[in-house]
Amino acid sequence: MLLELRDVSKRFGGLHAVTGLSMTVAPRTIHGLIGPNGAGKSTVFNLLTGVLPLSSGEIVFKGARVSGLRPSEICRRGIARTFQATTLFRESTVLDNVLLALQLHAATAFVSTLLGTAAYRDRERSARARARALLASLRLLDLADERAGNLPHRDQKALCLAMVLATAAELVILDEPLAGLTAQESTDTMAVLRTLRAEGKTILLVEHDMRAVMGLCDVITVLDHGVLIAEGTPRDIQANPVVIEAYLGAEESRA
Ligand SMILES: Nc1ncnc2c1ncn2[C@@H]1O[C@H](COP(=O)(O)OP(=O)(O)OP(=O)(O)O)[C@@H](O)[C@H]1O
Ligand SMILES: [Mg+2]
Repeated sequence: MLLELRDVSKRFGGLHAVTGLSMTVAPRTIHGLIGPNGAGKSTVFNLLTGVLPLSSGEIVFKGARVSGLRPSEICRRGIARTFQATTLFRESTVLDNVLLALQLHAATAFVSTLLGTAAYRDRERSARARARALLASLRLLDLADERAGNLPHRDQKALCLAMVLATAAELVILDEPLAGLTAQESTDTMAVLRTLRAEGKTILLVEHDMRAVMGLCDVITVLDHGVLIAEGTPRDIQANPVVIEAYLGAEESRA
């Protein structure tokens, strides 16, 4: 297993946001985490990335415990989440933002720059090609030379996604990547996520768009009031009366 949560709990004062959660995420899968508002999904992401400390339990990534580590160290080990729109380099171009994310893990690049080696120039060329391909897949290539700060909000969101996908992280955590997108943008984004899975990445996804979740995910874990109430394939989950009662029924009546 790539990721394992062992009996993880998080309390905020008297509020039990996550209680005794144990789950595993297999490599090269898209794993959905769903449930009603306030179920604890974003809290789980904050625990995974080290933004919040656990109240109890442990999190293991690639066989090593990561709970208790600083967010920067967890990121360095290969868990990345969507960049917030505010962390874009607004004065830099769209292309340079993606190049920066691509180079987050290329620690030797700086030294090579000084030396101007052929190896560096090769890497630079392939980084540019990869950045441009990612931008094209999210229909941002025409905007490659725009300043990131000039993009409309929607395109900034797509750029944030391109950046997290550009990092070398094996596990990418996405909290509602489709929220606010048009149907076409959702379709594009879903295609990019499938391509990344095919390339070997693992994606942990929180999303309220049930058609997307059911179409994308290999496995789905359902939380309600911080407790795991079901886990299985999209087909299992859609037919599970407990899930329909707690969540899917409510989503249908909202739609
Ligand atoms: N930093 C915090 N301090 C106090 N309470 C918090 C904090 N973060 C989350 N909570 C509470 O923990 C519970 C779970 O919230 P969380 O944001 O994880 O839910 P969610 O499943 O992501 O919901 P949504 O679908 O609305 O995004 C909620 O009751 C929320 O108010
Ligand atoms: Mg949330």
